[in-house]
Amino acid sequence: MSDPIDEPSPRASVPQLLGEIADVGADRLRGGFSRPVFSAAETDLRAWFVEHAERRGLDVEVDRNGIIWAWWNPAGGPLEHAVVTGSHLDSVPGGGAFDGPLGVASALAAVGQLQALGVRPHWPLGIAVFPEEEGSRFGIACLGSRLLTGDLDPGKAAGLRDADGVTFAEAAARHGLDPARLGRDQKALRRIGAFVELHIEQGRGLVDLRQPVAVGISILSHGRWRLTATGEGNHAGTTLMGDRHDPMVAAGAIVGAVRDIARSKPDARATVGRLVPVPGGTNVIASRVDLWLDARHPDDAVTAALVAAIGDRAAAIAAEEGCTVTLLEESVSPTVKFDLRLRDRLSAALPAAPLLATGAGHDAGVLAAEVPTGMLFVRNPTGVSHSPSEHVEDSDAEAGADALASVLGNLLGLTGDIGHRAEAAASGDT
Ligand code: GLV
Ligand code: MN
Ligand code: MN
Repeated sequence: MSDPIDEPSPRASVPQLLGEIADVGADRLRGGFSRPVFSAAETDLRAWFVEHAERRGLDVEVDRNGIIWAWWNPAGGPLEHAVVTGSHLDSVPGGGAFDGPLGVASALAAVGQLQALGVRPHWPLGIAVFPEEEGSRFGIACLGSRLLTGDLDPGKAAGLRDADGVTFAEAAARHGLDPARLGRDQKALRRIGAFVELHIEQGRGLVDLRQPVAVGISILSHGRWRLTATGEGNHAGTTLMGDRHDPMVAAGAIVGAVRDIARSKPDARATVGRLVPVPGGTNVIASRVDLWLDARHPDDAVTAALVAAIGDRAAAIAAEEGCTVTLLEESVSPTVKFDLRLRDRLSAALPAAPLLATGAGHDAGVLAAEVPTGMLFVRNPTGVSHSPSEHVEDSDAEAGADALASVLGNLLGLTGDIGHRAEAAASGDT
């Protein structure tokens, strides 16, 4: 981590905040950042967040699911009216600098802006940092928020294993959590009157619309499945080509079939982003290959039909190679439409912001089943995400934080356009 600023600096901008963590989890092999949950990198980022939250006088707690909550004015009103913002600090392998941290840094910057204006919130304002949003270590995306809402069985979560065989229960225990206490947290949920997550846009919608910030309307239905092709492990040199039951050959054909089947259904997306051969030696015919499938479509029924078609085709392909295949559902998230009243509040606070749907999953999508939830998206000039190429211009990052401050001010019942007041304060005009 580069040298943190010496003095408390509630006015630190989003580019300054992100600059402080610009080398945390940098991945020299893949490029970009690898910040899996509870790794040294993600742990450093969590500590960085806590330090900044405490500098702003926020009360910080880590709940039993590993979610960090930082509260401003926690005793300032009925807790069930709390306005909460936040995002995540973990990344996909070799990801970009903004997916997750932009929302966390913007939350800190927005609170700093409101504090600098002398605002006293009428209700508690919280910043939440969710663990394992990407599911890149334990396989299930939005693991922290799914535990919070009870969408994920705590026993199943505890038993999930990473690539080294470490269970989530073991990793969580090493970070001070009690695996026996994972699971739905009614008290934490009841506190939240509204949740708004700010996120980099993972597409080119705002580029085309020539706007820096949008209000989210929906999240595409999506899920993860694991296809396991099983054959016969053997020696690469001594096994004649006619004698093989090679699941890697089946896996290769299945990847192509996934693409073809998804292409045959308008608006469908299906991806095999991870192939795990066992045992994984160059001179070894694999005995088993896991193919991690990500499938998405606006209509939940079409997603289900798409995955069923992929399963049937994969079974036929595997049989041609003398192999078998199983299909296991890992996690499914139905289409989410964000709360209409909250969306109108966000649009009223940000009249120039267009409405935008997204194909990416978010903790906000999980929370939407429980509390009024909305999102803000910030322009990404490359349109690329889950890659080192994702990008946000400094001026757009600042526009995003201003928009978030405006929205939070509005939800906290403050009068006036907080965003404009914040800009005026920054230019010494107040
Ligand atoms: C998370 O970014 C997802 O869409 O999978
Ligand atoms: Mn992501
Ligand atoms: Mn994200």
